[in-house]
Amino acid sequence: MSVSNEFLNKYNVSGPRYTSYPPANFFNNTFSVADYIDELEASNGQVPKDISIYIHIPFCPLRCHFCGCSTVIAQKKSVVCRYIDAMKSEISNVSSHLDLQRRVTQIHWGGGTPNSIEMSFIRDIMDHIRGIFTISEKAEIAMECSPAYLEFSDIDQLAEMGFNRMSLGIQDFREDVLKAVNRMGPKYPVKDIVNYLRTKGFRGINLDFIYGLPLQSPESFTETLKQAIEIRPDRIVTFSYAHVPWVKKAQKQLEKIGLPTPEDKMEMLVNSIAQLEEAGYISIGIDHFVLPDDDLAIAFQQKKLHRNFQGYCTLETTGQVYGFGASSIGQFFGAYAQNLKDFPKYIEAVEQTGYAIERGYKLSRDEQIIRSVVNSIMCNGILEFEEIAGQFQLTPQDIKKLTGFNPSKFEDFILDDLMVLEGDTIRIRDKGFMFARNIAMALDPAYNQEENIYSKTV
Ligand SMILES: C[S@@+](CC[C@H](N)C(=O)[O-])C[C@H]1O[C@@H](n2cnc3c(N)ncnc32)[C@H](O)[C@@H]1O
Ligand code: SF4
Repeated sequence: MSVSNEFLNKYNVSGPRYTSYPPANFFNNTFSVADYIDELEASNGQVPKDISIYIHIPFCPLRCHFCGCSTVIAQKKSVVCRYIDAMKSEISNVSSHLDLQRRVTQIHWGGGTPNSIEMSFIRDIMDHIRGIFTISEKAEIAMECSPAYLEFSDIDQLAEMGFNRMSLGIQDFREDVLKAVNRMGPKYPVKDIVNYLRTKGFRGINLDFIYGLPLQSPESFTETLKQAIEIRPDRIVTFSYAHVPWVKKAQKQLEKIGLPTPEDKMEMLVNSIAQLEEAGYISIGIDHFVLPDDDLAIAFQQKKLHRNFQGYCTLETTGQVYGFGASSIGQFFGAYAQNLKDFPKYIEAVEQTGYAIERGYKLSRDEQIIRSVVNSIMCNGILEFEEIAGQFQLTPQDIKKLTGFNPSKFEDFILDDLMVLEGDTIRIRDKGFMFARNIAMALDPAYNQEENIYSKTV
């Protein structure tokens, strides 16, 4: 796939990222704990029937100034302990509404920096989960880690607890870039960490990078990715730096140092796609690159790729997602439910009421159908109206009506060779994957281009 600057500029419009459908800005505060309990009970009979668990650890020893995640700076052990206890109690309360014959096929720990808390806390939660749920032998058990705080003995313990996937936040290999963004570099060479993870049976090992940070240039980012390719992780993610200083105040610090120009940022994107594909990585969506034998590459080829708030996964591993901890999001067939973001409020709410729901969203049947359409385009680059119609006992014509399908909306994409329209099938071409979001927007009746609340597509 080669992507030209011209296309990137042409299709670089504001739009949802479709991490969920409808996007999180639709969530509202009228969604109550009683609604949540209804949805938990309904989720027992929904498809996919397996259980995914998300655990959010908000703590980080140091705040990286670019960070857009839900984090708080390191807390005393007693506070972390109270947080872990609240989470255990939340897990017990939520699970009392669930059919526990269902298997857990995915456990994802995100943050914050889950590996910055003591391993005994992680073990405590994992033991609690194992004491309640039935975990599938093939379950994916993953953690997002910062290599600044990761010891080899931690890896031993995580492997022993059943973890088999890890994502390491690298961001950049250059020390001056890391210093400029107030981030600690890896404690040990990343190559040694990745090799050690492999000996411990970890698969799908991922390295995260960000382009668009201060002091980066197209040349320096190429060098960083060259080092990443030499390490040969299964997955490489290159995030475009999302600069939202009105939400994340610390990001203002980066403006003082100076950010790369939009042209440089675009060049980093174009170069990185070419560089990673040349090195044998397969591009999945906008920013994910995977080795051909990785589960995600295989799922992508078999059109079985799926996405939830935790990232890409396969249809085999994903289930209804039950989120635990501050800011975590439950994702069910019929609704989304998000916990309080502020962690002391989260603890208080769980201690007092057993739950900590702040907002959520119930999907109408039409929205459930459109979500299937959007997911099919975003994850697998294909939309077969007949197939979606079959899922909902409708006709292809019904789906077209619901999505406001009109061939004229796709003329540009077809002329630019980004997709083909063959009968009742939309098929995205290799070089069109970067613009899957734009194609999904053309099928999303709720998308309103006037409402400029979203980040740019690229
Ligand atoms: C929860 S962190 C990963 C684990 C750990 N906290 C770390 O930083 O190594 C998730 C990822 O989000 C990405 N990220 C954070 N802030 C971002 C931003 N403003 N724009 C783009 N990506 C961002 C980083 O690549 C980071 O690795
Ligand atoms: S990027 Fe990771 S380590 Fe840095 S503040 Fe955000 S969550 Fe914490």
